[in-house]
Amino acid sequence: MIMSAKTFQDKVAIITGSSVGIGKATAIELVKNGASVVLNGRNQERLTKAENEIKALGGKFLSVCCDVSVPEQAKSLVDKTIETFGKLDILINNAGVSMRGDFADLNPDVYKTVFDINLLGSVNPTIPAIPYIKKSHGSIVFVSSLAGIRGLPGNSAYCSSKMALRAIAESIRIEEAKSKIHVGLVLVGITEIEKGKTTIGADGSLITLKDRSNLNVQSVNSVARAILKNIRKRKFRTTLTGIGKLNAFMQSILPGLVEKVLILSIDKIRKRSE
Ligand SMILES: NC(=O)c1ccc[n+]([C@@H]2O[C@H](COP(=O)([O-])OP(=O)(O)OC[C@H]3O[C@@H](n4cnc5c(N)ncnc54)[C@H](OP(=O)(O)O)[C@@H]3O)[C@@H](O)[C@H]2O)c1
Repeated sequence: MIMSAKTFQDKVAIITGSSVGIGKATAIELVKNGASVVLNGRNQERLTKAENEIKALGGKFLSVCCDVSVPEQAKSLVDKTIETFGKLDILINNAGVSMRGDFADLNPDVYKTVFDINLLGSVNPTIPAIPYIKKSHGSIVFVSSLAGIRGLPGNSAYCSSKMALRAIAESIRIEEAKSKIHVGLVLVGITEIEKGKTTIGADGSLITLKDRSNLNVQSVNSVARAILKNIRKRKFRTTLTGIGKLNAFMQSILPGLVEKVLILSIDKIRKRSE
């Protein structure tokens, strides 16, 4: 079912992790298309900046400063949305964190942090949101990554957390097939980042990522538009970028070859993900 150009008019959307980056760009795109948005993040200062951008657009919004990896806080995000707007049409599970480090070097807590945010941070708001999304025949979108197509070197915790989102999305699609809800999965490629964005290092400490402004990466706005298109077309999987589509295709038909190419390119991959 393809929704009309007015798909987002008067809709209410929660975007987790929307104080900066892809989440904020998605909130802005939704507001421009007539939706009311619920902004979220753990840091109030960053959230206030995002609120000001939405205000400047004249958008209707609610802002909930909370940690979606904590079940009670994620539930309060949904509850406050219902108290304010009386309904929920769209939940975009976008909050996420990346990591770096070969598996053998990892402090196991890296897995805990990454799974708490990327996996439970998506599960926690989705469970309380489902009854409302069923009522509105709305959408739940999981923001995954090209790193969720197959395991990549130096990225095992991130890849496995993003791969798990696919399984969750697939299960919900079957369980809720009769509820007429849309469940989407968007696999995002390397995208521009805010200055000073951090990732988790092998020992669990935070590492500042290198600036990507000179690299040929996706813009946050193009990712935001792709997320809206996934919802408008009620698609299951959206795989971004030509290289992402090629990766997904090659992995499905020749996984052994993909592995050989990755082994040969390991130094290049490490350099690119610094
Ligand atoms: N950028 C890329 O190259 C890329 C590529 C593929 C996939 N993705 C995925 O796209 C999503 C967004 O990425 P991004 O680059 O835009 O990230 P980002 O710039 O680091 O923004 C992440 C957002 O999530 C919030 N957040 C993190 N943990 C949270 C938690 N536990 N509870 C609530 N909010 C939380 C952050 O705010 P606070 O820190 O203040 O909480 C921030 O608003 C992620 O799921 C990421 O894995 C990104």
